[in-house]
Amino acid sequence: MDITFLLNGEVVSLTDISPSTTLLNWLRDTQSLTGTKEGCNEGDCGACSVMVSDAQGHRAVNGCILFLPQIHGKSVTTVEGVSAPGGALHPVQQTMIDHHGSQCGFCTPGFVVTMATDHLNGKTDHATQLAGNLCRCTGYAPIIRAARAAETAPVPPHLRDLKIPDGKISSGGPAQPDGGRQPPRPCQPETTDDLAHWYADNPDATLVAGATDVGLWVTKQFRDLGPMVFLNRLQDLGGISDEGSAWRIGATTTIADLEAHFAPLHPSLGAMLRRYGSAQVRNAATIGGNIANGSPIGDGPPALIAMGATLHLRYRDTRRALPLEDFFLDYGKQDRKPGEFVEAITVPKQPDTLRCYKLSKRFDQDISAVCGCINLTLEGSVITDARIAYGGMAGIPKRAAETEAALINQSFDETSIRRAMIALPMDFQPLTDMRASAQYRLLTAQNLLLRYLYEMNGVPTNLHEVTA
Ligand SMILES: Cc1cc2nc3c(=O)[nH]c(=O)nc-3n(C[C@H](O)[C@H](O)[C@H](O)COP(=O)(O)OP(=O)(O)OC[C@H]3O[C@@H](n4cnc5c(N)ncnc54)[C@H](O)[C@@H]3O)c2cc1C
Ligand code: FES
Ligand code: FES
Repeated sequence: MDITFLLNGEVVSLTDISPSTTLLNWLRDTQSLTGTKEGCNEGDCGACSVMVSDAQGHRAVNGCILFLPQIHGKSVTTVEGVSAPGGALHPVQQTMIDHHGSQCGFCTPGFVVTMATDHLNGKTDHATQLAGNLCRCTGYAPIIRAARAAETAPVPPHLRDLKIPDGKISSGGPAQPDGGRQPPRPCQPETTDDLAHWYADNPDATLVAGATDVGLWVTKQFRDLGPMVFLNRLQDLGGISDEGSAWRIGATTTIADLEAHFAPLHPSLGAMLRRYGSAQVRNAATIGGNIANGSPIGDGPPALIAMGATLHLRYRDTRRALPLEDFFLDYGKQDRKPGEFVEAITVPKQPDTLRCYKLSKRFDQDISAVCGCINLTLEGSVITDARIAYGGMAGIPKRAAETEAALINQSFDETSIRRAMIALPMDFQPLTDMRASAQYRLLTAQNLLLRYLYEMNGVPTNLHEVTA
């Protein structure tokens, strides 16, 4: 596969690359750009943060789980490109020195890249943006002080005028114009139509969207992925559009874009998505990947199920739609046939009665032990519709059918909610694992129903909740 991109302002063209080479390994092993560090190699620490820029803007992502084909046609800035070509420090580098933001220094390049990206984007919610950068020695207060101190400094000219490829860079795909008679090879289609036909002809290929799951299959499980097909060039598979009574969310819409869209409409969903991985993960991960991986502990599906989302699947030119909850059949088993892929999700527009609760051991950058999403419709004080979905409570993200039935046509009060809490064990028999015990899961899932009642009625709740 051939790719072209900008690296610290210079054009780089690579031919015949192995598509599962990560940017981090390539930078360190072949370019001696060792400022980008390897800490965890699984997206958890931010030591490998790089800035990726394209027509959509600038974002920090983890280079350790970013495959080279994913940067085709984009601009990459590493820590070596953050300071000016003559060596003048970037404002965030200077304030890191001034505020003693570094001790051993291992995490510092990653912090600097994320901070420089935020500086460029004018983002000042530093605790949120830096939650994916871990530091073992300095402590975060000096680093946050450094980020604050740089806020008003002008963006250095070399980053202000960062060249963005114009989109005319030749692509690596579609690789199989003859309908798949050649042996499959890595593919980077430009249109969803091309993807649909290539994938139908090569159903064993691995689809790669944000690679926040697939990346780990390579870096942690050392799996040979066989032929890979990259979705990052498909403009027509991403984005959120207004369909009148519903929002259509393209499969490659990132979690960051989903959060930006839904936070003003459904603040509780926005708040939960802010706790999805880290800024770097949200900038890469897509909602299509979050659904297609079928994880029982993904945060997107319970919320979308509670909102009544419809999933749109495509095989060649045949499309079908199903309620999202019906896609998840059993642990590791989804209603998706070979060669079929997630094209979009539609979410009906609705009043904001949705509340999403993510319970995890850490506030930031943690996987849910329980994710409860509750959405009740009332007429007067009577519950006329109930959509309640949980993650972490079964082998799949699942609706609480018995619990919902216990609530329908009941008045929205504590008696009804307590009845529903008693029904919940009929829906779920959760497991004990490293994240939580079965008892904890069941009890907290029940209590979330009560929390919903209190919150919707403006009753103060006694929560012991870490917020940042
Ligand atoms: C550090 C870290 C933290 C994380 N934190 C969270 C979290 O808090 N909450 C959470 O829910 N998840 C979390 N995740 C998991 C991960 O981010 C999600 O599952 C993610 O949404 C996957 O999307 P992706 O685009 O990266 O998928 P990829 O890794 O590219 O693909 C995932 C799977 O989906 C398939 N696929 C991708 N797109 C499609 C498509 N359009 N049609 C059919 N199949 C497709 C791929 O072939 C693969 O099997 C975390 C991951 C990491 C590394
Ligand atoms: S090395 Fe830890 S996130 Fe990449
Ligand atoms: S300065 Fe040592 S890990 Fe952050």
